[in-house]
Amino acid sequence: MCSALRSLVEDDARYLRSFQLFLQRSSEHRCMRDFIRGTLPPTLHSVADGKAIVNVIGVGSGAGEIDLEMFSQLRLRRSDIFVDNEVVDPSSQQLHNYKVLVSRQPDLDYIKFSWNEMTASEFEQHWKANKMTKKADFIHMIQMLYYVKDPGATVSFFRSLLHENGKLLIILVSGESGWGKLWRTYRTQLCNAEISQCLTTGDIKSFLDSAGIAYQSHELPSQMDITECFTPGDEQGELLLDFLTEVLDFGRTAPPELKAGVLELLRHPDCSTEVDGRVIFNNNLGALIIDPPA
Ligand SMILES: C[S@@+](CC[C@H](N)C(=O)[O-])C[C@H]1O[C@@H](n2cnc3c(N)ncnc32)[C@H](O)[C@@H]1O
Repeated sequence: MCSALRSLVEDDARYLRSFQLFLQRSSEHRCMRDFIRGTLPPTLHSVADGKAIVNVIGVGSGAGEIDLEMFSQLRLRRSDIFVDNEVVDPSSQQLHNYKVLVSRQPDLDYIKFSWNEMTASEFEQHWKANKMTKKADFIHMIQMLYYVKDPGATVSFFRSLLHENGKLLIILVSGESGWGKLWRTYRTQLCNAEISQCLTTGDIKSFLDSAGIAYQSHELPSQMDITECFTPGDEQGELLLDFLTEVLDFGRTAPPELKAGVLELLRHPDCSTEVDGRVIFNNNLGALIIDPPA
């Protein structure tokens, strides 16, 4: 990463504002919901098969909207099921948002929530220190592996917690998305080597293939309207640009050549299409459903 630049994740509040704006401007959660309703049910039902309680770990659950969608799909066909849900997220604000969502939603009595305000690696240390032997039926890491130092080690640890019929779901941006192109072009300037931010499902597939780990792979089409990024001084455009580059105040702090290059690439056909005067970025996601250790 350019030494003059600071990572967006250093500013919790701005990160959260940019993420929420990204959710408004993109079909991110809609495409996840389509996947959860259309493709995921057989997996959810297989992990719950023959069980009265399913043990779930959500790593980087954020405000929980997607977690609750998965539980409601599970419950649709298994109205007798109970869920023991460990939520792992280091952001107190996100955990608060998740709790508010739960408090507003009726009929969630079948879920027991355990709130873990910690990172994935702190959870791993905590788990090992307490010599926990509990196994999980379903673990998900949705749009969070960018924020860990060693994604392969994180996947290996959580996979080791799976029950023999369990599954690990990972969702990240697809290697074929605009993000993939942006990161392949500007990895050294934008990505923070300390925490592997420029990660796609392509990278995780390479890791799984080399370790001989079986998985299913799905592409989730998604778009993001980034038109405002091209209006100089536009506050929302600046916030979106921070989210796209993962750089704090990218518009103000990036060297002019880097800023010009990134803006040019963002509207290039490799990353975006123009529709009715709007610039629509390819935000395609990839979902990997990973088997437990043999
Ligand atoms: C992009 S948000 C995704 C939230 C949610 N899964 C979704 O898709 O809406 C990333 C989440 O990962 C959390 N996070 C960041 N670093 C983490 C870490 N090291 N371990 C676990 N979660 C982390 C953040 O607090 C945030 O809630």
